[in-house]
Amino acid sequence: MSLDKIMMYNEKKEVIFLLGATGGIGKLLAEELKKDGYIVVGNGRKENVLIDMKNEGKIDDYVVGDLTKDEDRKRIIEKIKEYGDKGYKVTIFYNIGILYDYPGEFKSYTNKMIDDSYEINVKSIEKMDRELEEKNLYLDTIYMVSISAFYRGNWDPEYQKTKAALKAHAELQILNSRGRRIIALFPDTIKTGEEGMGGKLKDYPKISGELFARKIVEIVNGKYKEYSGFMFEINNNNKVILYGLNPSKITGAFEYYERKYLEEIGEAVY
Ligand SMILES: NC(=O)c1ccc[n+]([C@@H]2O[C@H](COP(=O)([O-])OP(=O)(O)OC[C@H]3O[C@@H](n4cnc5c(N)ncnc54)[C@H](OP(=O)(O)O)[C@@H]3O)[C@@H](O)[C@H]2O)c1
Repeated sequence: MSLDKIMMYNEKKEVIFLLGATGGIGKLLAEELKKDGYIVVGNGRKENVLIDMKNEGKIDDYVVGDLTKDEDRKRIIEKIKEYGDKGYKVTIFYNIGILYDYPGEFKSYTNKMIDDSYEINVKSIEKMDRELEEKNLYLDTIYMVSISAFYRGNWDPEYQKTKAALKAHAELQILNSRGRRIIALFPDTIKTGEEGMGGKLKDYPKISGELFARKIVEIVNGKYKEYSGFMFEINNNNKVILYGLNPSKITGAFEYYERKYLEEIGEAVY
């Protein structure tokens, strides 16, 4: 479908570039955002999944690409510009990420595992943000971080470290927001399909993926707009609690102890 046709069929002229649309959370988010009238452009490396999603009406458009590759980011940025030139407001939603099965000890990580974790979870996003700004594209931005950004421990240290670095990047972007809305999401474990990350998190209590996606769309729609950070935590009573956060005026960082209770959004599931 041409851009003009997409525009005719959608009342809300807001486009969300969902990077990491092809995984467990991405699929749920795409569907939920579309239900709410957003025009969703999906990205991922798996072209077949993007084609299926488009055929099933879960996304309006897609751009295949590996975010760690310079030429692929360039193509994504060109597509963003195309939509911008047509008069759409474009938001970029970084939902990409990888999680390795923790090999048991830090020394068991290979250099490739360390490189990939940082390349995908942090560096590709930083590079994309820098390249967008270089082209004067200051877009509303959503970062899918993780509650892991606040914790260290022997769970999957590389994942946690990369998410802490992504949190730091989001904090800096908020500091230099230039009027953009910037949202950083810090969810606990989420129940998605068995593919991707979902399959590696079997034993943990989880947030229902559908509930989570619904809440994200409410946040994107402007609920709780006084906060830029959102933590979804499963508490000791297995309840999923949503907290609002803003970077501290003193440290410039999202601080765990400064979070504000917003609401209980449901029971954890397994
Ligand atoms: N699942 C959870 O419990 C949980 C909790 C907190 C935070 N998160 C975060 O939520 C996000 C989505 O997680 P998920 O559970 O949906 O994981 P997932 O099913 O493994 O999906 C990961 C997504 O990232 C994309 N991706 C990975 N490497 C890429 C690359 N080099 N270039 C472009 N796209 C790439 C994948 O697309 P392709 O394979 O098609 O490239 C896929 O769409 C991640 O950032 C994750 O860290 C997840």
